[in-house]
Amino acid sequence: MTDFPQPSETALSRLKSVVGEGGWRSSSEAERYFEDPRGRFTGQACLILMPKTTENVSQIVRICNEERLGLIPFGGGTGVVAGQLSPDSGNAIILSLERMDQIRHVMPEDYAMVAEAGCILENIHAAADEHGLMYPLSMASKGSCTVGGNLATNAGGIQVLRHGNARDLCLGVEAVLSSGEIISELRPLRKNNTGYDMRHLLAGSEGTLGIITAATLILKPQEQETVTALCASSSLDDALRLFQKLRADLGESLSGVELLSKFGLDLVNHHFPNLKNPVGLACDWYLLVEIAGQSGLMDRVEATLASCMETGLLPDAVIANSEAQRAGLWDLRENTPEANKMTGAICNSDTSVPLSQINQFITKTHKAISDLYPGLRINSYGHVGDGNIHHNVFPPVDISKADFVAANSTIIDLVRETINEVTEDCGGSISAEHGIGRLKVGDLNYYGAQAKLDTITRIKKALDPNNIMNPGALIG
Ligand code: LAC
Ligand code: ZN
Repeated sequence: MTDFPQPSETALSRLKSVVGEGGWRSSSEAERYFEDPRGRFTGQACLILMPKTTENVSQIVRICNEERLGLIPFGGGTGVVAGQLSPDSGNAIILSLERMDQIRHVMPEDYAMVAEAGCILENIHAAADEHGLMYPLSMASKGSCTVGGNLATNAGGIQVLRHGNARDLCLGVEAVLSSGEIISELRPLRKNNTGYDMRHLLAGSEGTLGIITAATLILKPQEQETVTALCASSSLDDALRLFQKLRADLGESLSGVELLSKFGLDLVNHHFPNLKNPVGLACDWYLLVEIAGQSGLMDRVEATLASCMETGLLPDAVIANSEAQRAGLWDLRENTPEANKMTGAICNSDTSVPLSQINQFITKTHKAISDLYPGLRINSYGHVGDGNIHHNVFPPVDISKADFVAANSTIIDLVRETINEVTEDCGGSISAEHGIGRLKVGDLNYYGAQAKLDTITRIKKALDPNNIMNPGALIG
């Protein structure tokens, strides 16, 4: 059975009449819904629907369920595992939440906010800020990614170490199930043990069980002081020891720890000449650290870094002393994915390992990739505080990505499989924060425990018996 049966003209007219004029687009005016941020896939669809209300979403889903039509929920389009794209069938119907972009209530006394699924993450930050609060989920795509997509993929980002993933920052969801029923659990409750938790069932389900239409998000008090530093390390081992030392000395105030390399910083500088590594001493590895908490923090951070310098663990560091310098340090990190793309990455991994295995993981991956094809270059960077290192692999110097891939047709899969194998050897997970989408369905089937895969299938069949909810994503 195909994932996306062809809709009849009558079904398409019924769907269009739910949203009315201005509420849908035909595929010829839908380029932006078909783009993969990494340019590996091109999506297709026969209709884009842009409902404005949860009731409209419910009506759409009821029609699709009656007609057995496959729907793909669409947030900001920033997913990188083709969860929001139908590369193989033009019969898909995309349900974009972009017009459901209202912040319904901010509840400062409850430290919570109810926001519709189509709200852009940066707008959530601004709304929280107006009340002297913050929503700590953050990532490079914050200007386009949306609340619904963040939750559906259980997105991570740069502050997971302290504040958790999207699911940890959510108190409840409103969602439309495949029957068209609306589940609404938006009360800002910190405790609610009333059976299976719908929020956790839907978070990370990638649109396969229901469409999240709104969520109650956890807000936190703003930090009084934030300190950002770029710390050089002579070796990977030292970088990891520095992380442990910062964690021991600064405790919970350590909110983000990102690993960067000299190679990666050079790539960013090459493609964005204004972005320069401000640390004078060239070292192979760097930690970008952010520490946030009560005022007076700068003194504690300086004392900790000074003691690391005395013992030789920290050869050099730059502490931002203005908001502009702080932004400049984060620009180096946040432009890394774009620099990787511009350099011609043939693989961008997203796997995780236990913190104790990070060194082994990076060292063994570099060796395995160099054994696979000598000369391949690797930029390993990312959320070291969460054991989530992204490896970006490039062709040898002087060969373009297109020529290299044309001459080595299996190399992309081989590199991905190599990283997966090392991840598995280190006791890790083949998807850390990007999800499974359509890209990693085979990997999940290969590495997932049978009992878990069977349970996923049973839950899917129970909640979406006609397989209309993002068919082909997550479950192969
Ligand atoms: C990052 C994305 C790729 O951390 O997850 O840059
Ligand atoms: Zn990441």
